[in-house]
Amino acid sequence: MADFTKVRTDFPALTDDSAYLDSAATAQKPETVLKAMDGFYRERYAPVSRGKYAATEAATAEYRAAREAVASFIGASDASEIVFTQNATASIDLVARCWAMANLGKGDSILLTEMEHHSNFVPWRLLAEARGLELRLAKIDGHGTLDINDFKRKLPGAKLVAVTHASNVLGTINPVTKLAALAHEAGAKLLVDGAQAVPGLPVDVGKLGADWYAFSGHKAYGPTGIGVLWTRREVYREMTPAFGGGGTVGKVTSKSTTFLDPPAKFEAGTPPVAEAIGLAAALEYLEKIGMGNVRSHAESITTRALETLQGIDGVTVLGPPDAKDRVGLVTFLLDGVHPGDLAVSLDHDGVAIRSEQQCTQPLHQALGLEASARASFGIYTDESDIDRLHRSLLSAKKTLV
Ligand SMILES: Cc1ncc(COP(=O)(O)O)c(C=O)c1O
Repeated sequence: MADFTKVRTDFPALTDDSAYLDSAATAQKPETVLKAMDGFYRERYAPVSRGKYAATEAATAEYRAAREAVASFIGASDASEIVFTQNATASIDLVARCWAMANLGKGDSILLTEMEHHSNFVPWRLLAEARGLELRLAKIDGHGTLDINDFKRKLPGAKLVAVTHASNVLGTINPVTKLAALAHEAGAKLLVDGAQAVPGLPVDVGKLGADWYAFSGHKAYGPTGIGVLWTRREVYREMTPAFGGGGTVGKVTSKSTTFLDPPAKFEAGTPPVAEAIGLAAALEYLEKIGMGNVRSHAESITTRALETLQGIDGVTVLGPPDAKDRVGLVTFLLDGVHPGDLAVSLDHDGVAIRSEQQCTQPLHQALGLEASARASFGIYTDESDIDRLHRSLLSAKKTLV
């Protein structure tokens, strides 16, 4: 088991007089990520895939190695299956523009779930309006788990299924392998939003059976400004480029353009090289700890948080009751207190939590909630953070209720 007290000291922005409980929004960065990016900018900075001199060739090799590191981290069979984007949102939008625009038309359906983040909802809503598609939403049950019977009922006729691997509000881990098998049996493709899963669960895209997998670097302890889209080569062949420009093309004349093979075909313009290097450093850091250990740590912190929150009279916790079925976050309500007021009150005690609708308005509508509060955990979160949350909630209850 990794020494998680040591892990905390690797994150320079963390202090002992506050509790950062908003890692599901964005994770703090370990020193190794900062050093990798700083070193590239200070010592080795050069353009990639553009020139013939030594510095650019070295930078290109470093960028290529970053892509290979990402591929290996998620179990992709080849680095060419990894397209770098800006974030998970851009990865999902890329599938909407590059695959769905070309392959879905009037009368076709897309199946989502009620627990999708706006980033896996709005691109499909826009497309549905532009193309006359039907959007279906599979329901969640009373524990915040996907209602698999409702999913099966709504699946026939859908050409695309887009689901989150793990909910950013309920914490629920969805049975992606099973959903992939069901989608494929019904003749649909499956896109998985891995934004909340990659930072905390061992992910192997080779085994999941999905057609696309999207995630963000910044939630996985890497920098902002970089995201990942994975798919297999044969699926890339069904995708047309959404953005044209330098880096994507083979031959360009005044009359025609040929495109390079993926990933270049989908990476228009100068890419986020330092960010790719930073992301590779973050994933290497996670691998050193071991994703099994990362997962155990999340389960143990989540168990403690669930017990602590459920022990406070007036607090309601959303999502599956067992930490084994969830990623490292807990969304909750305190009777009589608006989640936004609660977040402000906790902030006075140095406790940072998320509030409002957490980019999931359809989910909040389904739950009949105006807003909610969420504490989310990273590999650096420890028991003292949960104790601080506990003390601060008790004091908020005294002053706000
Ligand atoms: C489940 C889920 N999907 C997608 C996103 C979007 O991530 P990003 O803003 O990095 O694109 C988030 C961010 O919170 C998320 O939680």
